[in-house]
Amino acid sequence: MPWNFQEIEARIKTEVQTVGTPQELEAFRLKYLGKKGLVHAVFASLGQAAGQEKAAIGKGANDLKKLVEELIEAKAGWVKAAEKFEERADISLPGAGQALGHTHLLTQTMQEITLIFERMGFITVETPEIETEFHNFTGLNIPVDHPSRDAFDTFYLDAEDPSAKGRRLLLRSHTSPGQVRIMKEHKPPLAVIVPGRVYRPDAVDASHSFMFHQVEGLLVDEKVSFCELKGLLQEFCRRFFGPKVVMRFRPHFFPFTEPSAEVDIDAGILGIERKKWLEILGCGMVNPRVFEAVGYSKGKYKGLAFGMGVERMAMLKYGINDIRLFYENDVRFLRQF
Ligand code: PHE
Repeated sequence: MPWNFQEIEARIKTEVQTVGTPQELEAFRLKYLGKKGLVHAVFASLGQAAGQEKAAIGKGANDLKKLVEELIEAKAGWVKAAEKFEERADISLPGAGQALGHTHLLTQTMQEITLIFERMGFITVETPEIETEFHNFTGLNIPVDHPSRDAFDTFYLDAEDPSAKGRRLLLRSHTSPGQVRIMKEHKPPLAVIVPGRVYRPDAVDASHSFMFHQVEGLLVDEKVSFCELKGLLQEFCRRFFGPKVVMRFRPHFFPFTEPSAEVDIDAGILGIERKKWLEILGCGMVNPRVFEAVGYSKGKYKGLAFGMGVERMAMLKYGINDIRLFYENDVRFLRQF
């Protein structure tokens, strides 16, 4: 038998895959179906073939012819479509490029703040936005009759606190409940940063929103002093606002810290009016009553804590005058940062 039809078929099927243009398709056709093509040659060999071989060669030649015709027909549509595409698209031109998004300014600011503290050795943890009265108030030494417990200052949920009968769950009004959660679970030394959303039923205006972001800080050990609190926050402000920042600690009151202070920075550094003090955060030494509430041994530990508003920090740093811009998500605003 002079022809190995199996081998020829396999070769043709591989070869057709390399055909990509009308010219190549025509060359392929001539090679197999042309006057000097292979199918013709197979038919021509019938003349010299012995009797029993004749039938096999005849069938092989017909099968080959049919195969090549089918392959050409299938390929023709594909080649045509490819040609059309090349007419429309100059694939040698550089691509148009996809516009990529980027992190929101608030996320950037939150990451910048947490990173500064992480570089000082703090670790970042997140605690729940839905809280109990214990974590949000009681554990923080906020008395039962304190006005901030009022529904006017806190969003209460229509859901009972599973850990306290008759008490409702709430949306945390600050990140300080994170302090209580972390201390209940872990023994000192502790150095943690708790970023996240907080909620207060404020009427929305240029400086208020019912939801905003805070970053809480807590450091607890056997020896921690107010000096360290001052040094830590001073260094933080230098890294966040730049080395020329001018700040002051102003005595204040928080039920969960004693003594307490608020930190202001001089607006001059921000290119705004000079000698105008802008409040940026609340802080103080952890009140021993908080240690008591989380079950720490009396008198064993000291701690410092602070909490700052992320929107406020971003507004001061980037000269933004309306908090609503953060939430409206107008890309013309967002693209600037
Ligand atoms: N939780 C306080 C607030 O929301 C800020 C604060 C945190 C003050 C930690 C002192 C210590 O205003």
